[in-house]
Amino acid sequence: MRVLVTGGAGFIGSAIIQKLQEKADEVFVIDNLSFGNRSFISIPDDRFYKLDIRNEAEVVEALDEIQPEIVLHLAAIHFIPYCNKHPFEASDINIRGTMNLLKAIKACGSVKQFFFASTAAVYPILDGPIPETAEKKPLDIYGLTKLVGEELSEKFHLETGIPTIICRFFNAFGPNETNPHLIPEIQQQVNNGKRIIQLGNLDPKRDFIHTSDMANAIDALLQHVNMGFEIFNLGRGIEYSVVEVVKAFEAHLDEAIEIEVDPERVRKVERMHLLSDISKITSFTGWKPVVSLEEGIETLIRG
Ligand SMILES: NC(=O)c1ccc[n+]([C@@H]2O[C@H](COP(=O)([O-])OP(=O)(O)OC[C@H]3O[C@@H](n4cnc5c(N)ncnc54)[C@H](O)[C@@H]3O)[C@@H](O)[C@H]2O)c1
Repeated sequence: MRVLVTGGAGFIGSAIIQKLQEKADEVFVIDNLSFGNRSFISIPDDRFYKLDIRNEAEVVEALDEIQPEIVLHLAAIHFIPYCNKHPFEASDINIRGTMNLLKAIKACGSVKQFFFASTAAVYPILDGPIPETAEKKPLDIYGLTKLVGEELSEKFHLETGIPTIICRFFNAFGPNETNPHLIPEIQQQVNNGKRIIQLGNLDPKRDFIHTSDMANAIDALLQHVNMGFEIFNLGRGIEYSVVEVVKAFEAHLDEAIEIEVDPERVRKVERMHLLSDISKITSFTGWKPVVSLEEGIETLIRG
């Protein structure tokens, strides 16, 4: 299979590509390396297209040349504080970039399956496990751009009949993280020798899923070629507090870590809970997450 991964040089993309390559898929990447890193993936230069998905002509030309059978669309900007500061850039990349890609897929005619990386940020503030059928009401520009991406993907499916999977990722963690989310932030401070670390709000709980579990889940979803149009949550199905995450670092370092709240890092609008109901994806594919927060953090610390 010829598989194209947009945003493939990024954090989650690099984990998916490793999984695809284990199965000897022919993998191609489009990435402008704004956040990603070429060294995260071992892809020959003739399969790596360093281009911006906002450039319609270049995207159309690349797809015409690649003739992919499967397209996984991960290229986006998503660090919420960055998107809030740069709302036009976020919209341009996440919406116009998606429109360009879908147009190019229609033009090239080879694609049999499309996968869109969406996010739990499309949901409003909700307590308890969130099913895919929950109301959609993003709190921020990032969630809004991804909700538009979902709508564009559905419209694309209705127009072309190409099987389309929307996957709403919850909080990913693992190697190669590119944005200063909670876990890499703690890791960086701890690696710099700090044992009193500065963090934002300590109360929120998040559903952290390891990128190797995500890659396995996505691979399992892609096996269902005749799916039509389906939406899945992808999380671990367990919520962890900031304090539990710090405790996992303490356990592996065998040293105490003190947390100081840095008011600069405290978000004005914050969800206290973000937990996925993963019953749809588990019953559909048989996939189950296997990496615990503790194990995942241990591998991060060991490098
Ligand atoms: N990391 C998470 O916890 C998380 C949660 C929910 C959803 N997601 C979604 O998953 C996808 C991958 O996220 P990630 O964590 O790997 O992020 P990432 O920033 O590491 O990866 C995104 C990649 O897209 C590339 N990119 C950005 N703008 C581009 C452009 N204009 N043209 C071409 N390439 C461009 C970046 O260089 C990067 O390699 C994104 O769509 C994101 O919205 C991530």
